Amino acid sequence: MKILVVGGGGREHAIIKSLKKNKSVESVYALPGNGGIASDAICVNIDAKDIDGIVNFAVESKVDYAVVAPDDPLVLGAVDALEERGIPCFGPNKAAAIIEGSKAFAKELMKKHSIPTARYETFDNLDAALKYLEAITYPTVVKADGLALGKGVIIAKDKAEAKLAVKSMMSDKIFGESGSRVIIEEFLEGPEVSVLAFTDGHTVVPMISSMDHKRARDNDEGLNTGGMGTVAPNPYYTEEIQEICMKEIFIPTIEAMRAEGRTFKGCLYFGLMITKSGPKVIEYNCRFGDPETQVVLPLLKTDLLSIMQAVTEERLAELNVEFSSDSACCVIMASKGYPEKYDKGYEINIPDELSDSVYVAGARLDGERIVTSGGRVLGVVATAESLKNAVDSAYEKVGKIHFENAFFRRDIGAKALAYSDKKRG
Ligand code: AMP
Ligand code: GLY
Repeated sequence: MKILVVGGGGREHAIIKSLKKNKSVESVYALPGNGGIASDAICVNIDAKDIDGIVNFAVESKVDYAVVAPDDPLVLGAVDALEERGIPCFGPNKAAAIIEGSKAFAKELMKKHSIPTARYETFDNLDAALKYLEAITYPTVVKADGLALGKGVIIAKDKAEAKLAVKSMMSDKIFGESGSRVIIEEFLEGPEVSVLAFTDGHTVVPMISSMDHKRARDNDEGLNTGGMGTVAPNPYYTEEIQEICMKEIFIPTIEAMRAEGRTFKGCLYFGLMITKSGPKVIEYNCRFGDPETQVVLPLLKTDLLSIMQAVTEERLAELNVEFSSDSACCVIMASKGYPEKYDKGYEINIPDELSDSVYVAGARLDGERIVTSGGRVLGVVATAESLKNAVDSAYEKVGKIHFENAFFRRDIGAKALAYSDKKRG
């Protein structure tokens, strides 16, 4: 089979490595891929947002199956366009991808179908939003409606900060049209859990839980990033919480989408907060998370391609999806300065024996060399019987990988380990 994967980050690298375990996969094309993915797939320089380019390439290359991984092409309708030309796909169509594409849609869906989430109001008008800020308690959360590269959420500790956030989104348009509508919502507290789930619109199969580390620096300090590391499973996600989530969140969401005529097929990402009054949805993503995928897929025992095809063909119920009982840790090595300004073009040295442990996010080929080309450069992954050993092993591997100006958090997994110790007493 010829497979096409749209995207070019660490998540896509993990998906490609996982797909290639299936013997029927002859070749994988990555659009656009990156300098690290190039050792596992044929990278073709077509942008992930260039829907016509993707479809034309897929048709010309007689691709048998396509996986659309990033949010942008999904929200733009890449799956609809590929399916129209007869190419089976993994990923939601445009109508279903709106669950991530519009936060206002997601919030309304939850309200209408009684799915637990933070209380909120939606505003299209600046004055109305500013007036609302006079009447609420703080901190509060201001969110741009549309996609904003994961940056459209501002936690405002007081009225002045909230006003600034609303004005910057609605009148200064720092997130473009994504911010012409804003959501102002209740500030929730508690540990966060990411749960990715396979769904064909009828059956939902949650994957192993994980914990992202979004802030740039140790102890959750510094700016928000695309994710500096992950561990799986997440110790805060107990069996009891899992049961509540299945009953109150996962199944109701799938059914709500079907009821709205927006059947969701693909990977649905539940960003959850475990509050004192139970688990609540912080956000939905219409795709695999990054860098959650880098710890979830190495623990998947069932063949990924078979699961994806079962999702496409709406027969997920027939499958038994299994995960290992091991733990995994992913440490992101980034360019110093990320998520703000950073330099690129530094040579990356990865020892051969670690090639299976590295998922490359921001690198390009320069002749024979591989050099940095992004903020998040690569993720280093280890699995082990215990979380402690997975974390230690990931950091040991990090110590063997070199590029100039590399920086990484030293405490990935620390919070999870401390909580696991506490639970054990
Ligand atoms: P998002 O872009 O929706 O993932 O939000 C980014 C981060 O903002 C989340 O991971 C949370 O840490 C935080 N956040 C979002 N919504 C809320 C909320 N209602 N209360 C507290 N924190 C929030
Ligand atoms: N790790 C968060 C995301 O993929 O959006």
